[in-house]
Parts: sequence; C-alpha cells; structure tokens
Amino acid sequence: MKRPSIGLIAVVAAVGLLAAACASSSSMQSKSPEQTVSERQELMKKHGAAWKGVQDSAKANDLQGIASNADIMANNSRQIVALFPAGSMTEKSKAKPEIWQKFGEFEAAAKKMETESVRLRDTARTGNATATNEIVKDFGRTTCGTCHTPFRQPPPRQS
Ligand code: HEC
Repeated sequence: MKRPSIGLIAVVAAVGLLAAACASSSSMQSKSPEQTVSERQELMKKHGAAWKGVQDSAKANDLQGIASNADIMANNSRQIVALFPAGSMTEKSKAKPEIWQKFGEFEAAAKKMETESVRLRDTARTGNATATNEIVKDFGRTTCGTCHTPFRQPPPRQS
C-alpha cells in the first residue's frame, strides 16, 4: 500500500506550502499608511461619482441609471471598513481619530451605507419612481452625512 501514503505525503507537503504562502502573503499585505489613505480616497472619489450618477439619473427619470449607480455604491460600501486599519493616518487624510475610538459606530455607518444602497437599487429596479425618489431625497444626509459628520474633517481648507 505505497500509493495512499505517497498521496498523504503530497497532501501534507501541499498544506505546508499553502500555510507558508499564506503567512508570507499576509505579512506582505501590511501597506504603508500613505498607500492605504490614497486607496480609500480613491474609493471615496468613485463613491462620490456614483452618488452624483444617482442624482443625475434621478433628474433624468432614469431608474436604471439609479439602480446601476446604487449597485456600485453597495459594492464600495463593503470595502470601506478594511481601508481604515488602526494607525492609517497621514497629513493628507481627512479621517478623524474618532473613527478608531468608536470603530463600532464607524462600522455601523458603513453597514448603513450598504443597506441603504441595496434598498435604493432594489426599489429602483421595481420601476416605482415615486418610492425611488423618496429614498434619493434623504439619501445623502442619512448615508454620507451619518459618517462624514462624526468621522471626517470638514473639507474647506484643502489645496
Ligand atoms: C462609513 C463612513 C463613510 C461613508 C458612509 C461615506 N464616507 Fe466619504 N469619506 C469618509 C472618510 C473617513 C473620508 C476621509 C478619508 C481620508 O481622507 O482618509 C471620506 C472622504 C470622502 C471624499 C473625499 C475623497 C478624497 O478625494 O479625498 C468624498 C468625495 C466622499 N467621501 C464622498 C462620499 C459620498 C458621496 C458618500 C455617500 C454616498 C460617502 N462619502 C459616504 C467616510 C465615509
């Protein structure tokens, strides 16, 4: 019965390699704060563009446009929390330290962003313009604002 034991050795070796690969890739994942900050600002720019897409589509009575932009926002929302690891602060960042003091609330704001985007997308897909516009009306305040007000420095002096 040589075959099974050779197979077993191969499996053990493969598992060992996999573990080594995981260990090295996780240590390589530690990005510099500069990298993390620019990645999350990129994500937020895309997010801002998608929200503008929703507003423009709403003005044009384009429910499909609303749905596709809301879907992008839902996907963006799922990426927010991972882009705010502890200590990821630079001078360029507008993130407030409160994020890491109240991380649960920050996560809840990101979750709400996701839930509301999904609700907007699904409502737009039903073709009910009235219900969709009802959601769009308060959306900026209840999603972006809920997070920016406590967790982002106001933008005035940028340059
Ligand atoms: C869960 C929190 C959260 C939510 C929800 C959120 N944002 Fe942000 N946003 C931030 C934080 C924090 C920053 C600052 C990031 C930094 O500078 O490190 C930011 C930055 C931005 C920026 C500036 C990006 C840049 O160029 O530096 C834009 C634009 C933006 N958000 C748009 C939006 C819009 C539009 C929405 C709603 C549709 C939204 N955000 C929802 C947390 C959030």
